[in-house]
Parts: sequence; structure tokens; C-alpha cells
Amino acid sequence: MTSVRNIRPGVQWVGAIDWDRRLFDALIPLPKGTSYNSYLITGSEKTALIDAVDANMTGVLIGNLKGLGIKKIDYIISQHAEQDHSGTLKELVKLYPDAKIAATDRCLGLLEEFDLIPKDSGQEVKDGDKISLGGKTLQFIHAPWVHWPDTMLTYLPEEKVLFSCDFLGSHLATSDLFALDEATVYESAKRYYAEIMMPFRQSIKRHLARIKALEIDCIAPSHGPVYNRPKFILDAYSDWSSDDVKNEVILPYVSMHGATRTMTDYFVDALIARGITVKRFDLTSYDLGELAEALVDAATVVIGTPTILAGAHPNALFVAILANVLRPKANFASIIGSFGWGGRMLEQIKEAMPNLKLQFLDPVVAKGHPKQADFEALDRLADDILAKHKELKIA
Ligand code: FEO
Repeated sequence: MTSVRNIRPGVQWVGAIDWDRRLFDALIPLPKGTSYNSYLITGSEKTALIDAVDANMTGVLIGNLKGLGIKKIDYIISQHAEQDHSGTLKELVKLYPDAKIAATDRCLGLLEEFDLIPKDSGQEVKDGDKISLGGKTLQFIHAPWVHWPDTMLTYLPEEKVLFSCDFLGSHLATSDLFALDEATVYESAKRYYAEIMMPFRQSIKRHLARIKALEIDCIAPSHGPVYNRPKFILDAYSDWSSDDVKNEVILPYVSMHGATRTMTDYFVDALIARGITVKRFDLTSYDLGELAEALVDAATVVIGTPTILAGAHPNALFVAILANVLRPKANFASIIGSFGWGGRMLEQIKEAMPNLKLQFLDPVVAKGHPKQADFEALDRLADDILAKHKELKIA
């Protein structure tokens, strides 16, 4: 049974929907599954396949190609070597031995290292190179660091379709070929941006500017639905990747005996009273993707942690390390929490975020259960945050 669908004349989706996958990179939750999009481009003379699928979906891709009766593929365009788009290559090479694997030099090297293609079997394509399939031209755009160094995009000018690889995609398993339910796709695409693209925000901005110069009617990413209204996702990426922050505080916290929780409760109310949006995450039961997504826009991050074994709680340290890796555009940070007899909790949290250009506001750390002076200090911290947000003209 094939699930092939037509995007444009001679442009077919032949990929796989992974409804059941719940984790990516052994880290990122996929609450709505994902898809591995693969596209078959048929010209008057030649045929090309853009990207393969994850190895666990090999049978689906090959079933789709066999269902279409595809006996020969001239080019397999590998836009990116990560295994969710290349895991099937070894099987495809066996099935279509005459197909040339076209990719960036970096990508070909990685595919060889991953033992997915034979050594020296690929065809390097440089930025701006074109391959004609007869009435259909594949034009390659190198796009390093969205999110690997090997990545390229492919533009099909005759149909004004941009195949955007991971860039602009979403982890969303859906029977919709196109992004019809834009509210749902927006949420999935924003999570995806936060988890995968946000660390490369500066590269994203450069590549966005570059592709905006193209005439694009359709964006076909390698995950999630295809955009027949490209402005929807391009505008969203412009917003997320801009330097603009929102009047929001992200407050991930963990509490052992209630002191940090009491401080968190009080601080949340203090921020709300000052008109600041708060996104609070209990670090004993939270969704990593939701936390990452919240980090996309917020001006300020405040981490709440008790002291354990003379340092920060490991759950709070993990969030600091995660933020350091995801590189959100937040401007300010602080720490609230408690201690019994001392420790390096403050230093540990700060030292875990060397990549971030954060201005640290005075922390509030209570000895034991918070007292009047600690609540007053929390009010001062809320005032400081409001003042900083006002300086940015977001409050
Ligand atoms: Fe969807 Fe970077 O792989």
C-alpha cells in the first residue's frame, strides 16, 4: 500500500510518517510523532530522489518507490547526512546502483563515515550548482549550520518549490500533506525550532535572508507538512530568530522540602502583579520541548533550586546546561532558592551557562525556609526584572 502524494506536477512525496516515535536523539520528546519526507522529482529525461528516510522506515520508502514502478533513479540528493534522512541510503544504493549520490562535500564525507555509501561514490555539488532533469532543474543552496555543517537546500525554479531539509520543518505526524491546520503546525514548528535550530540563530538569520530572495510558492521540509503558504513559516522564523524578546520570565524550579516552592509561588505572584508573563516549570515533571519552546521568546530566565550535597539540585543544573546548549536570546537571568549550611549552588548554575550573554540580576537565596527579608528580596528582584524589561520597551 503506497502513501505517495502529488505536490506539484512531477513532484511527489514518497516519504514515511512515523506516528509512534516518541523520542529523538535519546533526548527530545516527540509528543506528536514525526515524518521523514522524501521527494521524487521526475523530469522528462531523469529522475531524482531528494532525501531518504530513517532506517526504521526503509520498507515504507522502498514500498512507495516500488508502488510507483520506479526502476531507475538517476540522482539521490542527500541534503543532510543525519541518519533520519540517510539511514535508508545503503538499501537504496543496492536497489538503484546507477544512482549518483549528490551532496555537499561535508555530507559525502559523513555518509562515508557512517558507512551508508561506498567510498568515493558520491558527486559533490557546490553552492549554486544545478542539475537538469529535463524541464526540471535542481539548484543547490549550501546552508551550513541549520543544523549540521553539511546541510544544503534544493530549489526547483520551474515549480518554485524550495526543499528546505531540516530547516523550517516540524516534528508532526499528520495525514495532512500540506500545513492546513496552521495553529497546530505552528506549535510543532516552534518546538522544533527551539530544540534543533535555536542554537544556530545567527546562521538561521543569514539563510532566511538568502532564501527570501527566491520566488517560492511552496516549501517542502524534510519533517512535517509541506507549506503551500510559505509566508506562514518564513514570518514565524523571522520572529523567532530575531533579537526581539518578550515580557516573559521562564521559571524552571525544583524544591525538596518546600522552601524553594514557597519562594517560587511568591515570586510568580510578584511577577504577575507587575504585568510580566510567567512560564513556570516543575523540574520533577516537565516536558523538555515545552521548556525549550518557552525559551524562544523570553527576556529573562530565573532558575529555582535548593542546595543539595553542597551544590545546585542536579535537575536545575541540567536546565542550565540545556539552556547553555540551546542558546536562547534571553538578556537577563537570576537564581532563587534556599540552603541549609552553605555550598556553591549559585556559582554552579552560572558556570553552567558560559555560552549565554546574560546579565545576572541579584539572586535571592534563603537560609532554610524563606522569611520576611527573603520575600522582600523577591519583590526587589521582580522590580529589577520589570525595570530591565522597561528599558527594552517590552513592559
Ligand atoms: Fe532531521 Fe538533522 O535531521
